[in-house]
Amino acid sequence: MHVILTGASSGIGEAIAKEYLSRGASLTMVARRKAKLTELSQGHEKRCHVVEADLTDYARATDFVDGAIEALGPIDVLINNAGVQIVKAAVLTPWEDAERMMHLDLFTPLKLTHHILPAMIARQSGTIVDIASMAAIAPTPGMFFYNAAKGGLAAASEGLRGELRHTGVHVMTVYPGPVRTPMEEAGRKAYVETTAMKLLTPTGDADVLARKICDGVASRRHRIVYPASYGFSRHFPNLTRFILDRMTPPLKALPESTKPRGAAT
Ligand SMILES: NC(=O)c1ccc[n+]([C@@H]2O[C@H](COP(=O)([O-])OP(=O)(O)OC[C@H]3O[C@@H](n4cnc5c(N)ncnc54)[C@H](OP(=O)(O)O)[C@@H]3O)[C@@H](O)[C@H]2O)c1
Repeated sequence: MHVILTGASSGIGEAIAKEYLSRGASLTMVARRKAKLTELSQGHEKRCHVVEADLTDYARATDFVDGAIEALGPIDVLINNAGVQIVKAAVLTPWEDAERMMHLDLFTPLKLTHHILPAMIARQSGTIVDIASMAAIAPTPGMFFYNAAKGGLAAASEGLRGELRHTGVHVMTVYPGPVRTPMEEAGRKAYVETTAMKLLTPTGDADVLARKICDGVASRRHRIVYPASYGFSRHFPNLTRFILDRMTPPLKALPESTKPRGAAT
């Protein structure tokens, strides 16, 4: 089985890479930090293909695909995982940063899927996995552009599953809530820490999620919500939004005009 995994050098992607390697899969790993990918491939060189690529450059996001097929054969699973998160007041976010994030988190996954799908349909087999976010279901104040990117990816992913229903190709949409990774840590630090935040944000483990994703691909699950307690938000999105609007702590950096009384400076 040949799995293409973007963002394999850290966090959830790194955990998925380790899990698939332990299950004997062949793996194309894509990220900017080549040294980290090479380290992960040690001991499995014959079934690993390492690609150093900056996927914000979505015009060239599919350049590596032919080389991957040449190295490890037809693609069985595409995991669109690479992503960055901007946790910042909308008006303080430089447009260029937002644009780069939209390219990486939304355009590149859509482009990779669009590029790889025809061969999967022709072979009547394959799985696309999109790592979206709970932000797609319960948009979080303070993540203006990230909410848009993940909402777009999740909607595309959920709709594509039905479109491909009779083709033999499957789509799985993954909605992580907070999962301990460098991204999660940086995002959390952008907010003023409150007791409500601690209580309302159970945080998961990347290795556990990786196992669920690999099992989910094997059993053709439609979607994964992890940690499971966030299933509440999927079933009660309006109530979740009501709570998030009122309970999300203020960002540490706020424009003067929008600062609530008592917010940290
Ligand atoms: N952790 C969470 O709480 C959480 C919650 C919801 C959704 N997610 C989603 O899960 C996915 C993985 O996040 P994570 O928490 O594991 O984050 P992470 O530890 O920061 O890892 C991000 C991965 O994306 C890659 N990446 C970043 N910019 C890239 C670029 N320009 N080109 C190519 N690759 C790039 C990074 O590799 P390089 O830096 O080496 O390029 C790294 O491998 C993301 O899509 C994220 O939005 C995470």
